[in-house]
Amino acid sequence: MKIFIDTANLDQIKKIDSWGILDGVTTNPSLVAKEGTDTPTRVAEIAKILGDRPVSAEVMALDAEGMIAEGRELAKIAPNVNVKLPMCEATLKATKVLSSEGIDVNVTLIFSPLQALLAAKAGARYVSPFIGRLEDIGDRGNDMLAETVNIMNTYGFGTEIIAASIRNPMHVLDAAQMGCDIATIPANVLELMLKHPKTDEGIAKFVADYEKVNGKH
Ligand code: E4P
Repeated sequence: MKIFIDTANLDQIKKIDSWGILDGVTTNPSLVAKEGTDTPTRVAEIAKILGDRPVSAEVMALDAEGMIAEGRELAKIAPNVNVKLPMCEATLKATKVLSSEGIDVNVTLIFSPLQALLAAKAGARYVSPFIGRLEDIGDRGNDMLAETVNIMNTYGFGTEIIAASIRNPMHVLDAAQMGCDIATIPANVLELMLKHPKTDEGIAKFVADYEKVNGKH
């Protein structure tokens, strides 16, 4: 499973990149606004850090012509920039047009397998089902993701599923067990994935036992 980080914060991207496990970045308008900048500026900075790994940049237009125009501009930022379109009727047309021009599209704000099916049929390179936000309203995020994975595996559209709106390590574990292509994970969840209290306890004991005999390392 590929690991993306879901952030527009450069320090977080650089830190996780230093681990050597980072396959890409997703941004959205809220994440970029939190950094006090704009999407083209920040995506250009992220694209440079990533080299040839993908970064998603979201359009603000909600009509097909606007999405296409904005998408073309965002795709010009760097070859590794893909265009994120929020799921709606206009998105299908915009996805078809941008994909036919060789621009990768990530259809976001997916909350049902059928939305993912339509986006895949339109030619989306990625679909982003939102787990956490579905659970926020008492629905089953995991079931929605599993059904989406099943459909994509059945038909082989060539669309990659990005498990999104991930709030905790269990969401990542579930996505990995389902065979999801990608999970886009916030920095705090990536840090939690690294940790286990028994690991910390084990390291402390090894150090203490070593130092009893050898002195400080
Ligand atoms: C996906 O690409 C989105 O940026 C993201 O996962 C949204 O997550 P949230 O529901 O935690 O805002």
